Amino acid sequence: MSVGQSAELREQFQPASVAVVGASNRPGKVGTSLFRNLIEAGFRGVAYPVNPSWKSVSGVRCYGRVADLPEAPELGVIIVPAPMVADVVDELGAVGTKGLIVITSGFREVGDAGAALEAEVVRRAAKYRMSLVGPNCFGVFNTDPEVSLNATFSESLPPRGNIAFVSQSGALGAGILQYGITERIGFSRFVSVGNRAGVDENDLLRALGRDEKTQVILLYVESLADGRKFLETAREVTEQKPVLVIKSGRTAAGERAARSHTGSLAQSGRDQLYDALFAQSGVLRADTLGDLFRTAKIFSTGLAVDGPRLVILTNSGGPGIVAADAAIRNGLELPPLPPALQQELVRRLPSIAAVSNPLDMTADVPPQAYQDTLDALIGAPEVHAALVIATPTGTMSSDAIAEAILRVKAKSTKPIVACLFGLNDLSREVQFLEQNGVPAFTFPEEAVQGLGSLARYHAWRTRPRAAVRTFPVDRDAVRAALDWATRSGTSVLPEYAARSLLSAYGIQFPQVARATTVEEAAHAAEEIGFPVVMKVASPDISHKTDVGGVAVGLRDADQVRAAWSRMQESVRAAAPTARIEGFEVEAQVSGGKEVLVGVQRDPGFGPIVVFGMGGIYVEVLRDVTFRLAPVRPLSAQHMVESVKAFPLLKGVRGEAPSDLPALQEAIERVSQLAVELPQVSELDLNPLIVRPAGKGVVAVDARVVLAPSSK
Ligand code: COA
Repeated sequence: MSVGQSAELREQFQPASVAVVGASNRPGKVGTSLFRNLIEAGFRGVAYPVNPSWKSVSGVRCYGRVADLPEAPELGVIIVPAPMVADVVDELGAVGTKGLIVITSGFREVGDAGAALEAEVVRRAAKYRMSLVGPNCFGVFNTDPEVSLNATFSESLPPRGNIAFVSQSGALGAGILQYGITERIGFSRFVSVGNRAGVDENDLLRALGRDEKTQVILLYVESLADGRKFLETAREVTEQKPVLVIKSGRTAAGERAARSHTGSLAQSGRDQLYDALFAQSGVLRADTLGDLFRTAKIFSTGLAVDGPRLVILTNSGGPGIVAADAAIRNGLELPPLPPALQQELVRRLPSIAAVSNPLDMTADVPPQAYQDTLDALIGAPEVHAALVIATPTGTMSSDAIAEAILRVKAKSTKPIVACLFGLNDLSREVQFLEQNGVPAFTFPEEAVQGLGSLARYHAWRTRPRAAVRTFPVDRDAVRAALDWATRSGTSVLPEYAARSLLSAYGIQFPQVARATTVEEAAHAAEEIGFPVVMKVASPDISHKTDVGGVAVGLRDADQVRAAWSRMQESVRAAAPTARIEGFEVEAQVSGGKEVLVGVQRDPGFGPIVVFGMGGIYVEVLRDVTFRLAPVRPLSAQHMVESVKAFPLLKGVRGEAPSDLPALQEAIERVSQLAVELPQVSELDLNPLIVRPAGKGVVAVDARVVLAPSSK
């Protein structure tokens, strides 16, 4: 929150008085249309145009300067050219204005000169403790009848409703408002954040989370001002109400466009981090603007679902199958009908009806059959929600089917969603259904996608609230490992120091011994038991395999001796200046699946834990997933389950399942390290071997890089 800003953003959302500096009468000007909007929306406070050129604007007495106003306006909307904005901020600050909306463009988004102007605007706003929306924004509206504020230059306003929309793109916001009008989507508030020099999406989330008139929050973002803060804020807000987001820049081209668009600093390839962030904060991410608004529509009805089990009732097979496929894609389940109910329906319906889930009653049924069957299905305790698909036929009117659905809806608290195939939102039947609490869609996939979001939100709200686990740590060993780096002046810890650091956090490694002579190595191998692996120990070599510094599968003492001489030669040849401190002899881990667990640090997101299947799954398929640390137990479980190769860990074709609890715990332990040791800038356990259930996980290779300043 920036200086002077109230948590509810009262100054911008519910001002008692507004001055529009740069209001005008000249046709086609932004200042003309914004002030006219303010008046036409029926603003309940006092509106003051300020402009030396006019005696009145839109019939309202105009003031030449801010200093001439009869009172201090609570909000100042600024629409004067960029070089003059800072002075207007000063004038408003001097009379005691609390909030600003700067519409003007020509700031950070145009380069260094603009950035300097913007910095000056921010400095002056801060001097008077004023909160600031913009610059380079489309404005703010609040449809609350007590306020009726339209401080945008939109041509018209969408209907009043309970959806709040925050947009990082002004033009997209304007387009959406237009769409809202056409589709009759009701909005509570709208904010175009522009360059976010003051108020950002985190401030708005918090304010809208508290707003009684808002039931659903939509965000269009190109980048986040502060990923960590977003995580904290969104986790809180999603406890109260759903937050839906569309984050553009999924592709590298999209990100480049986003960057040049608002001067935001999106980096390529960060999309998966956003997925992680949204998953951890309970924010539902939509793929398309269409999905965003369809999902918003279903949430705005106040419908909630108690679980993922859906029943589909249809009068034609094809749409039922399309819906069933979409249901599975959207994480919903299609439970089989309970046997007693199935028998009863078989008795009642035509013999050609397919009495299963989806239930296809065939085209030849009267509306009463829809009503009775839906009634029976929605009443089954196995079912959480119903989708009714009606394809128009000559035997039944859409009005009759809508009435049949509503008669069932009147008795049921479970969500019922309709697809009147082919009828759009403007049709009479769809409106009739929606006005009576049954969202209706043109296509079955749209209906299912909306229901899937309701179910995901339910799963989020009712998730097990396990706290972050804290494991005991051997702090002396941690200190010793880090001191080693300080002494040696290297940022990549040698493997034994990396191992001792990770062992201190409870990560298991195979038994290992350091040998400085060939006979020591042979002896150590006998003690550990064959087969063994030998690795060169050198502070100067981080990729040992590349220099011929690893030998695996050594089965007896002679093989150990031979490997010793061979590796001396190959390492010397490949890395002549590297210091060789000896060789490590370790037990060779056999069996199990190779995975990777790692840590990266990101300037906006902080410490991030990475998990993926090892080997080619990481290198070729990029089958990895991310979470912001700290990783809670449930997130660790989701990470493991979300990789494509998860079935390999679960065990396929009669194979024993892997030790998933031990793997999840290892992820949590690494996460704890990432949070507690900010000096660790990168960490890789690759491979980490996941052994069969009950046998734990063993790290075979560890790489730890420290941040330059921590050496
Ligand atoms: N106090 C009061 N009024 C002032 C003023 C001041 N200090 N300085 C200038 N004005 C008045 C001018 O007299 C003028 O009014 P008039 O045309 O009725 O005489 C009005 O403010 C605007 O100034 P002008 O120089 O005519 O600029 P403009 O209207 O061509 O452009 C902006 C001003 C702000 C609209 C323009 O600079 C801009 O930023 N446009 C882009 C807006 C945008 O797209 N924002 C982002 C949306 S996502």
